[in-house]
Amino acid sequence: MLKISKLKKVKSNFPIIVGEKIISKKICNYLIDEISKSKNFDDMIMGGRSRINKGSKNFQNYILSSKFSKKLFSTFNSQLFYNKIDKKFKTEFKNNTWQSLFKPKTFNKKKYTLKRKVNSIELKKLMGSDYKNPILNLDIDFSVSKGGYRLRPHRDDVNRLYNFLIYLTDIPKKNGGSLTLYKRKANKNLRKKFRRFPKINELSKVKEFTPKKGSIIFFKSTPNSYHGVTRFKEKNCPKRFFIYGSYAFNKPVIWKYKNFEYHPYIVATKKRMLTSFHDSNYLLKSSNNEN
Ligand SMILES: [Fe+2]
Repeated sequence: MLKISKLKKVKSNFPIIVGEKIISKKICNYLIDEISKSKNFDDMIMGGRSRINKGSKNFQNYILSSKFSKKLFSTFNSQLFYNKIDKKFKTEFKNNTWQSLFKPKTFNKKKYTLKRKVNSIELKKLMGSDYKNPILNLDIDFSVSKGGYRLRPHRDDVNRLYNFLIYLTDIPKKNGGSLTLYKRKANKNLRKKFRRFPKINELSKVKEFTPKKGSIIFFKSTPNSYHGVTRFKEKNCPKRFFIYGSYAFNKPVIWKYKNFEYHPYIVATKKRMLTSFHDSNYLLKSSNNEN
């Protein structure tokens, strides 16, 4: 179903591998058909993206009645496939200095990151303070976006190790909806802080990917992996069908860059929001903090 060997590294400030025609047009059409037939979606976010999320009852029903989605899901939801991707990154980015400090020992097929609304105190509790021995799991959603969908530049949630996107429709460039990669303008040798949501004027565009049917993008969810989606205009264009996923830990990933560690820091808020919407920054752990 997937031609992983066709994935190739692209030049960016963080590790990313991309490939076109990784999934055949025929299979893409079957997947679109299955998502289109879904009567129930779990939520709608970011101005027009409807999702069917791993972990929901709805997802279970969807998978039961969707042959091709089920096949894709079971391929991704395995230690074997994760190992392939991890190995691919290791060979493509031999000199990459961003690593997770703790290696996952086990992969749990049944686990998923809870999608619930919490304030920052509750979130800190959920995250805990022991970052060792993480358990790995797959998070995945089958999504369709209508016009208006966009994502401001951000870095993904702190518990994510790898993120991936599978595009099922060809979107003409003029219709937007392209994945844009950014980097910080100021080129410092050692950054003390990586904000979750940097200001747009602090960023410069590195690359833009127009969704192409059957293409896949994997990237390491490093503290500097800034990305966003330009506003999607639906005029004379199919809806934007895609699959989004991550290999995630059950706790925050501590990122190591050379000999420096970056730890997550949650910005205090009384507002209850989805864990993935919180303002969580990565801060350089200074040596005088060490215990
Ligand atoms: Fe993201």
